[in-house]
Amino acid sequence: MSGIFGYIGRRHPSEVLLRGLREVQHKGYDACGIAIVSCGETKIVRAVGGVSLLETKLKQAELIVKELAWGIGETLWVTRARPSERNAPPHQDCTGQFIVVQNGIVENLPELKGRLASEGHHFQTEADTEVLAHLIESRFKGDLFKAVQAILQEIKGSFAILAICTAGSSQLVAAQLGSPLMIGIGQNENFIASDVLALLPFTSQIIPLSEGESATISNQSVKLIAFDGSPVLRDAEHIAWSADSAGLKGYRHYMSKEIFEQPDVIRDTLRGRADITKGVTLEYEIGPAEIFRSMKHVVIVGCGSSRHAALVGEFFIEGFARLHVDVDYASEFRYRDPLLGPDTLVVGVTQSGETADTLAAMQRARDKGAFVLSICNVPGSTAARTADSAIYTRAGPEIAVPSTKTFTTELVVFYLLGLFLASARAAMNQDDIRGRLRLLNRVPEQLERVLDKCSAVEAVAGRLCEDYPHVLYLGRGINFPIALEGALKLKQVSYLSAEAYPSAEIKHGPIALVDKRTPVVLLAPRDTVYAKTLADLEEVKARDGLVFAMAAEGDREITGRTDYVVQIPEADPFSNPFLTVVPLQLFAYYAAVLHGIDADRPRNLAKGVIVE
Ligand code: G6P
Repeated sequence: MSGIFGYIGRRHPSEVLLRGLREVQHKGYDACGIAIVSCGETKIVRAVGGVSLLETKLKQAELIVKELAWGIGETLWVTRARPSERNAPPHQDCTGQFIVVQNGIVENLPELKGRLASEGHHFQTEADTEVLAHLIESRFKGDLFKAVQAILQEIKGSFAILAICTAGSSQLVAAQLGSPLMIGIGQNENFIASDVLALLPFTSQIIPLSEGESATISNQSVKLIAFDGSPVLRDAEHIAWSADSAGLKGYRHYMSKEIFEQPDVIRDTLRGRADITKGVTLEYEIGPAEIFRSMKHVVIVGCGSSRHAALVGEFFIEGFARLHVDVDYASEFRYRDPLLGPDTLVVGVTQSGETADTLAAMQRARDKGAFVLSICNVPGSTAARTADSAIYTRAGPEIAVPSTKTFTTELVVFYLLGLFLASARAAMNQDDIRGRLRLLNRVPEQLERVLDKCSAVEAVAGRLCEDYPHVLYLGRGINFPIALEGALKLKQVSYLSAEAYPSAEIKHGPIALVDKRTPVVLLAPRDTVYAKTLADLEEVKARDGLVFAMAAEGDREITGRTDYVVQIPEADPFSNPFLTVVPLQLFAYYAAVLHGIDADRPRNLAKGVIVE
C-alpha cells in the first residue's frame, strides 16, 4: 500500500516528484523512491523511511535536466517484505528499461513470478511490484501502453500502476482496478497521483480514472482507454480544495491544526444545508425525499474512526427518523450474506472514499439491490463516484493519519441525514426539525469554548500520560462511541494501551482492572443517563480508580467526586458527542507530543487503507 505520483513536463522532475510524494506520504512512509528520465539518461534514487531522506539523497545525485523530463515515484507502506533500500520502489525488469510503481495488491504474483523465473527472468528484490516490471518486459513489442494492456489480462487483484520506459516515447502509462488514480492537467505538463492532494499544488483540473481504465499521458495530451480497448472521453473536473488549505499554518503538527479547525469546517459542512427557515436541504445531493420515504432499514458500514462516527449516527437516525439502523465493520459486512433489498439504505462512510473494505461493502450492498449512499470527504473519490448518491463532509484536506475534523464533520452529516429522513418520513414536524437545526448550528461556537480551554486539557493529559499501563474509557448511550473513538485515538498516536466499554458493562469484567494504576476516562455530560453515570463513577471510585471526567461546566457533583475534570459546555444530549470527543482528541495529541511521537505519522499506520 502506498502513495504514487508521476510527472511529465519541463520542470525539474525531482522537485515536482518530491512535492507530490510529500503530499501522499500519509499513505505510507516505510520506504520511497523515484525514477526520472531526461536527456536520454535515467536516474533512480531510493530511501528507507520518509520523503525527507529521499530529498537528501537526491541532492547528492545532482540530476541535470535540460529538456522534457518524466518520472514516477512511490512512498510505501510495507505489506510483506521488510523495508530495505533494495526492496524500495521503483522497480525494474532485467534490462532496466521498464520502471514501475504500484499501489495495491496483485493477488496472483507468486504464480506469475514462478512463470517468469522459469522463462529466465532474474529478480533483484523480494518486492511484489518487481514482478510487474518483468511481466511488462515479457509482453513488450515496441509499445509500452500495449504491453501494460496485455499484462492487465493476466494480473488479478486491486491495484494502480504507473509505468515508464527509458528507451521509448516520452510518456507515462497508468492503469487502475480498485485503487485510485487521478490525472492532473497542466499547461504543457501533466501529473498523475493516487491522491488528489498530491495534484493540488500544481493544478485543480483533475480527471479521475474509473475502475478498469488505463491512460497514456504525455506533456501535451491524455488518452483514457477502458481495459477492453475502447476509448473513454471524460472532461477534467475542477476541484475546489486549495493546496494552501493543506499547509501547517504555524501549527507544529497537522493533527493539532486539524483539531483546531473543527469549528470552521463544521460551519462549512452546515453551510446551505441547515437553514433554520428552510429546514434541511440535502435533496440536491442525495436525491428527492420520495426515494427515502419507503426505506425500512438503514445499514451503515465503515472502518476505524468512520465506523465510530456511524455508531453516533445510529443514535441520530434512530432518534430523529425512527428508522431501524445497524452499523457494521465494512470488513465483516462484505463477507456476510446480509439481508438487504430496495427498502434498505446502505451508507458507506469513509473520509478518504478509498478504504478497500468500505468500497467492497458498498459494492456488496449494490449487488443486493440496496440504495447506496456515500458520506466522504475527498472530492472525486471512488466511494462518491460509485455510490447512488453522495454527501460530502467539507472538512478540507485531512493530512494527519488520525482522523479528527473528518470525524466531527461526519457526525454533522449523520445529524443532517437523520433530520432529512425524519422530514421525508414525517417522523418529526418541521418546528421540531428547525429546533434541532438551531441546536446543531450552535455546535461550532460551543466547540470554540472547548478549544479555548486546551491548556487545561493539556495539563490533564500530562497526568493521564504518566506511567500507567492501561487506560479505560467509559461512556453510556450516544457517548459510548465517543469512548471508543477516544481509546482509538490514544492507541493510534501514543501507543498506550486503551480500551472502551459502555460504563455499565465494566461490572462484567473490566472492573477487575480498576485500581490506582488504571486511569478511567469517564464521559459524564448531563444527559438522560446522567444518574446512571454517577452510579458507574461510584463503582470505579470504590475500587480506588483514578477518574478523568468530561463533565458539564458547573457540575459540582462530578467535580467533587473525580480526580481530574475537563469541562464542556452544558448542551443538548445530541450535541454532546461533538463536545466530548474534542478533549479526547487533544488528550491523544498531547500524549503523542509528551512521548515524542509524530502524531501525524504514527508507526505502522496509514491513512486510507486500500488493501484488505
Ligand atoms: C485508517 C486510518 C484511520 C481511519 C480508517 C478509515 O485505518 O488510520 O484513522 O479512521 O483508515 O478511513 P476512511 O478513509 O475510510 O474513513
